[in-house]
Amino acid sequence: MSLLITNIKQLIQIRDSGIRKVSGKDMKILPIIENAFVLIENDTIIDFGEMKDTVGVIADQTIDASGRIVLPAWCDSHTHIVYAGNREQEFVDRINGLSYEEIAERGGGILNSAEKLQNTSEDELYNQSIERIKSVMKLGTGAIEIKSGYGLSLESELKMLRVIRRIKQNISIKVRATFLGAHAVPKEYESDRKRYIDLIVEKMLPAVANDKLADYIDVFCEKGYFSLADTERILSAGKQYNLIPKIHVNQFNSFGGIELGVKHNALSVDHLEELKLEDIDALKGSDTIPVALPSCSYFLSIPYTPARQLIDAGIPLALATDYNPGSTPSGNMNFVVSTACIKMRMTPEEAINAATLNGAYAMGIEDQYGSVTKGKKANLIITKKVDNYNYLPYAFGDNHIDKVIINGEVI
Ligand code: NIG
Ligand code: FE
Repeated sequence: MSLLITNIKQLIQIRDSGIRKVSGKDMKILPIIENAFVLIENDTIIDFGEMKDTVGVIADQTIDASGRIVLPAWCDSHTHIVYAGNREQEFVDRINGLSYEEIAERGGGILNSAEKLQNTSEDELYNQSIERIKSVMKLGTGAIEIKSGYGLSLESELKMLRVIRRIKQNISIKVRATFLGAHAVPKEYESDRKRYIDLIVEKMLPAVANDKLADYIDVFCEKGYFSLADTERILSAGKQYNLIPKIHVNQFNSFGGIELGVKHNALSVDHLEELKLEDIDALKGSDTIPVALPSCSYFLSIPYTPARQLIDAGIPLALATDYNPGSTPSGNMNFVVSTACIKMRMTPEEAINAATLNGAYAMGIEDQYGSVTKGKKANLIITKKVDNYNYLPYAFGDNHIDKVIINGEVI
């Protein structure tokens, strides 16, 4: 089955194979072709170029993209999209004056979601989660990372990870799974936190690895959650099962988590709303990519990750949603890209690079996703009629997407 997309006003993010991520000044460059075509065979991009070069090209199906932009589907490298119920009451509590941290101290927050998830059957959890997956696919997400971390017991962490596996089996977008047993310390372990970390290391990790339920390991390295020493212990244990770190750091406090992540060859360090110069230095020259989550900053009214400082220091940056019931009840990558431009002073080129190729790198899937490249998966967004890609982040809040193509098929 072949599909030819013709008369594309701007074909965005065309890359040769082998480019794994873009850093620093290179993030301002977004390669495009005007008046372009893309040829897809089954689930793969096999050719693209200028319209004048389509002479003689035939395909089973043609889509005329006159006046439209075509770009790679978004790569959302940080989500907690598998969860039960919601936390709209905490949203109202915050409006009425409580902080995110105060709500957590009262047993709300992550522990609230954990209780809900523990009391939800595996089928019901799957049903709630797959609906969210379908809706983010319509918003242009073509690859997604999903974390556990609302189970917080052996049984419920495994339940969450099995739901992620079931999503992977039933959905056409690429799914990567991350084990986040160290998301919060359950109440019953409050007086002996070490016992919970023992449980993670001695029981959860071997079970997760045995069933091959995760690609990555995550820790919420933050005051009141997991310390540097805790994080070090958990990441070292994960390494024995070949679980690569992707960690939550510097959301509220900067105290060395980034340096620790780099030391453990983390694929990504995520959040970074609070950043010191030594954090930036730790990232320089490493293979660890920082991931900014502007929808979380927006929703919690906390600082935005200082993207300019990172990019101007020559570092790469990825953008993701952080979709979760507490700090970011939204999986809309279009909003993320707009907000990055509006609030973090990223140029549209930088933001699109960060949400496509660099997002793919932050999930370790850049060889197959994140750019319009011959041989990569045909995961593409076709916009409504739009003259220039700058319009996409500029006209924020509107849905500019006409069609989403996943593995060569219009969904
Ligand atoms: O990335 N910060 C830690 N974890 C999530 C929020 C979890 C929650 O509030 O449920 C985050 O923001
Ligand atoms: Fe998160």
